[in-house]
Amino acid sequence: MRAAVFTAFGGGDAVEIQERPDLEPGAGEAVIDVHAASLNRHDLWILQGNSAMVSAEALPFVSGLDAAGVVSAVGEGADGLAEGDRVLLCPNETCGICRYCREGPEMLCEQFSLYHGAFAEQALVDAHRLLPLPADVSYTDAAALPTAYVTAWRMLQTAGVGPGDLVFVPGATGGVGVAAVQLSSVLAAETIGTSTSERKLDRLEAVGCDHTIRSDDPDELVDAVGSIGSPDAVMNHLGGEFTQAGLEMLRRGGTMVICGRTAGDRSAFDVAPFFLQHHRIVGSTMGTQNDLATLADLVADGAFEPLVGETYALEETGAAFDDMLERDAFGKLVVEPSE
Ligand SMILES: NC(=O)c1ccc[n+]([C@@H]2O[C@H](COP(=O)([O-])OP(=O)(O)OC[C@H]3O[C@@H](n4cnc5c(N)ncnc54)[C@H](OP(=O)(O)O)[C@@H]3O)[C@@H](O)[C@H]2O)c1
Ligand SMILES: [Zn+2]
Repeated sequence: MRAAVFTAFGGGDAVEIQERPDLEPGAGEAVIDVHAASLNRHDLWILQGNSAMVSAEALPFVSGLDAAGVVSAVGEGADGLAEGDRVLLCPNETCGICRYCREGPEMLCEQFSLYHGAFAEQALVDAHRLLPLPADVSYTDAAALPTAYVTAWRMLQTAGVGPGDLVFVPGATGGVGVAAVQLSSVLAAETIGTSTSERKLDRLEAVGCDHTIRSDDPDELVDAVGSIGSPDAVMNHLGGEFTQAGLEMLRRGGTMVICGRTAGDRSAFDVAPFFLQHHRIVGSTMGTQNDLATLADLVADGAFEPLVGETYALEETGAAFDDMLERDAFGKLVVEPSE
């Protein structure tokens, strides 16, 4: 089978297609033929050598968290699965025995990690992490869901977003950003989204973003958002200076949820207004396997359609990373290793 392999740290030209032995499932495992695997910035961090999860010793490395496909082999004890099943992988890896695994939610697990290996024709996975894929959800749409949409969904739940709320999404045109906009609409909330690209903002309006702002200057955004309203919630996947900016615009008692650091690993913020205005800042990572099942059902019911901006053949995986790096991408980018 062929895999898109990170052979060194760098950009898209460090991704090579290599022939690898076919995979065999062990006990409790399954092999899937990967029909679709989506990119996340997490994969780009790994490719750039900027991930705490994957170090240089792991190279050559096959990344890819989000896989949808067909079961091609089932290991001993992987009950309830059969060859030919259409499935979607939940990339969560948990120990199953710690306090957080017992009490939930599972992404608090002390050993929490993520599956890697979806950018290949075959993926070897834990059978219990496979969800049946509803018949009317395509592999490509399904592969968009596990990381970006589940993360955005959990962030919105954590902030208690509901009908009529105003949600601010800085950097609203990528995976988590578009997901946060679309899922806010599912929850009947109003959205403000930003981008540096007019072209991407046009597309964002077409997926239902209520207000768009063309800027990534934190001070400009504070003024522009202020003229629209005070957000009840800020979905902050950028970090850096966007944390202070988000707090400046947040309504009294409002919540900022942070899941990322695209614009900077460190955020400084003014402490006094933070406590005087009863703001909450909450960290969030991924979501549960049940969240993923909920989202797949919402897609099957027509509540929303995952936004896949571009699809790529396996050979084009490096080009897909370059598109993400150059901020050329809109929504989710999906690699399609096998037909
Ligand atoms: N904790 C978790 O569980 C979790 C899960 C998923 C993602 N994340 C994190 O969330 C972030 C987003 O992930 P993603 O996969 O959605 O990424 P993505 O698709 O690459 O996000 C692209 C968006 O980020 C904006 N952007 C890119 N670089 C920027 C910069 N330097 N300053 C301001 N805006 C910038 C882009 O704005 P333009 O439109 O202007 O180009 C675009 O709107 C990443 O930091 C990722 O690691 C965390
Ligand atoms: Zn655990």
